[in-house]
Amino acid sequence: MTRAPLIDGHGRAIGDVRISVTDRCNFRCQYCMPAEGLPWLERSEVLTFEEITRLVTLLGQMGVHDVRLTGGEPLVRRAFPRLAGMLAALPDVKDLAVTTNGFLLERDAAALVAAGVQRFNVSIDSLQQDRFYAMTRRDALPQVLRGLEALSAFPQAHPIKVNAVAIRGFTEEEILPFARFAREYPYEVRFIEFMPLDADRTWTRESVLTGEEIRAAIHEHFPLEEAPRAPSATARVFHFADGRGQIGFINPVSEPFCGDCNRIRITAEGSLRTCLFSLNETDLRGPLRAGASDDELERLIRDAVWRKELKHHAGQPGFIQPPRTMSAIGG
Ligand code: 5AD
Ligand code: SF4
Repeated sequence: MTRAPLIDGHGRAIGDVRISVTDRCNFRCQYCMPAEGLPWLERSEVLTFEEITRLVTLLGQMGVHDVRLTGGEPLVRRAFPRLAGMLAALPDVKDLAVTTNGFLLERDAAALVAAGVQRFNVSIDSLQQDRFYAMTRRDALPQVLRGLEALSAFPQAHPIKVNAVAIRGFTEEEILPFARFAREYPYEVRFIEFMPLDADRTWTRESVLTGEEIRAAIHEHFPLEEAPRAPSATARVFHFADGRGQIGFINPVSEPFCGDCNRIRITAEGSLRTCLFSLNETDLRGPLRAGASDDELERLIRDAVWRKELKHHAGQPGFIQPPRTMSAIGG
């Protein structure tokens, strides 16, 4: 590390950055995008591979060693595996991960693994084709499952995580099928509580099917035992008591884990966000393109990070939903 660690005003050392490489997506998930899509950024507004690499290099020098690439859908960005290769080659990048909807994984799994991506999260909200279609507005479950299978051929990419957003009135029917799926295949299924980041603004506190409710429902059929939790891990992980597989819960609404949050985010157009729910952000693209030095960029980043929110207030009185949806922030 050639620069001082990146610390926020609450003493948390930032070690993780999520970078959205595009705001575009080939799906239209109900909990994220409107059916007609969103006004996309112009190509010139999106950070280039070189600009992303420069920011990741600088962050790495400040101790940000975990990098996750997201979107929109990252695999729709042209030549995305080349970007993954550029980042994997940086000496300070210790862990390079990708979050994808899986639609293009059959095409790209080999190239991404060869580029050095070690960890993948694939979003799947239903294991039934018609319900998958209802949620994502794309009839794409078979294609996504083929992508998952293509990826599972690479031992370097294990464990593969499968993420399902948990929404009351929809996900109840998916609980046991996902539990069986996690027991049968080498995937770590994780339920994520629905968060108020949807374009359609249908979110209510009651629409969140909590991790605890899901855990209890699974436990009745397949007893679970909690695994020790790593610091700044977002998921609570449980093993099936008979040793066959595990399942995880990300509970940002019912059990916020802000206290040891060590992450920041960079949007596709190069704005730094210090929380998913931030109402303001810091433009890095302007200074980057105006010729700012690394030291100047470092100062901007430190200033913004210093003001990182102590915690979010999602679902509490007075909460204001950020104007950006998940697809425009980067999960
Ligand atoms: N609440 C919870 N999770 C969400 N995601 C997208 N929108 C929401 C939301 N409103 C998830 C996707 C994917 C990851 C990038 O974020 O399903 O797994
Ligand atoms: Fe696309 Fe992911 Fe949003 Fe679904 S959740 S519309 S896959 S960005």
